[in-house]
Formats: sequence, structure tokens, C-alpha cells
Amino acid sequence: MQLLKDYILKNGRVVTDGLLKVDGFLNHQIDIGLFQNIGREFYNHFKNDNITKILTIEASGIGIACITAQYFDVPVLFAKKNSVKTQGENVYTADIASFTHGKNYSIRVSKDYLSPSDRILIIDDFLANGEAIQGLVNIAKQAGATVAGAAVVIEKGFQGGGDKLRAEGLNLLSLAIIESMDTSGKITFR
Ligand code: G4P
Repeated sequence: MQLLKDYILKNGRVVTDGLLKVDGFLNHQIDIGLFQNIGREFYNHFKNDNITKILTIEASGIGIACITAQYFDVPVLFAKKNSVKTQGENVYTADIASFTHGKNYSIRVSKDYLSPSDRILIIDDFLANGEAIQGLVNIAKQAGATVAGAAVVIEKGFQGGGDKLRAEGLNLLSLAIIESMDTSGKITFR
């Protein structure tokens, strides 16, 4: 998506090798006009897939998912990273190893909001090693739901997570795939 690539080149900054700072428009301050364009792109790609629900993960996925959901007219369900007393044991869980944060964590989704009749679109802001997406696929499968596909805003292609998910058969849409980047400011797209 050319508009997104222009945003990344103009406003993104490579802080260390492998880490891109985009908090001026994507995951801290949010550019709603850009998000509307992102939501429309996601919708155009998956509009014939009979999506019944969007599944994402807190925190940064939620805003993108909500704007996208307006095009599909479906609910958004987000996986929680911390246990919530009101959820009790009535949850699907998946373990995620985060390369970026160097730690493992669990995500939870209430069993009340996923069913075998659901056709799920997974949405997230970044795809690096693919662990978060894999965890969400895992949770959807536990519920017997169908994963129609996954849509991410920025894929860091050099980390390989996206290619692995595609090889496993996931219908994955990434609006910008970064092939390489370095602290001199050079960013190359696939
Ligand atoms: P993976 O799921 O693809 O394996 O990725 P990884 O665990 O390595 O990334 C975990 C978190 O780091 C995610 O946010 C993701 O959005 C963020 N992240 C990964 N690479 C980058 C990057 O280059 N730049 C920025 N700004 N963020 C990156 P999170 O922990 O889920 O936090 P939240 O922001 O959603 O709360």
C-alpha cells in the first residue's frame, strides 16, 4: 500500500537494527485517516470471505481492528495479555514467545465469543516472528472456528514469520513488507 509506505519512509525511524519506531501514526498516536485507508484495503482483500468476527490482540491491534470492523460490520474480539478475574476459567489460551520483548506470555479469549460457525479475520499492527498471529490462529482453532485469513499493517520480512505462516497455508495480507532496514535510515520494501 503506497500511502503506508510513504508514511513509513517519512515518519518511521529505525531505532536499533530490527526495530522500527512508528509511534507517530501507528501504535501510540493514531492517524485516523490512515487507519481508514488501511481498513478499506483489508476489507477489499477479504470482503468475499464471509468474515463474521475480527480477532486481534491488545493493545495496538485494537484500534486498527475497530476501524476495519466498520467496513465488515462485524464485532471485534481482542485477546487479553493479563488474566481478568471476571473471565474465570472459561477461556481459550495460547502461549507466545516474544522475540522483540525477550519473554513468554499467555493470551486469553473468553469461550463465550468464539464458535465453530465463526469465520475469523486476524488483525495486528506488526508481524515479526509471527508468534502473536500463530497464537491467535491457535485460539480460533481451539474454538473450532475457521481462520479465513490474517491482515497486518507492517511485516518485517527479514524476520521470516510471514513466510512461515504463508507456507503453512494462511491467507496473509501485509500492507508493507520491510525486506531490510538499518539505523542509517535506509528502509527497503519487498
Ligand atoms: P511476533 O508476534 O510477530 O513474533 O512479534 P514479536 O513478539 O517479536 O513482537 C511483539 C511486540 O512488538 C508487538 O507489540 C509488536 O507490535 C511489537 N513490534 C515488533 N516489531 C516491532 C517494531 O519493529 N517496531 C515496533 N514499534 N513494534 C514492534 P506488543 O508487545 O503486542 O505490544 P502492543 O503495542 O500491541 O501493546
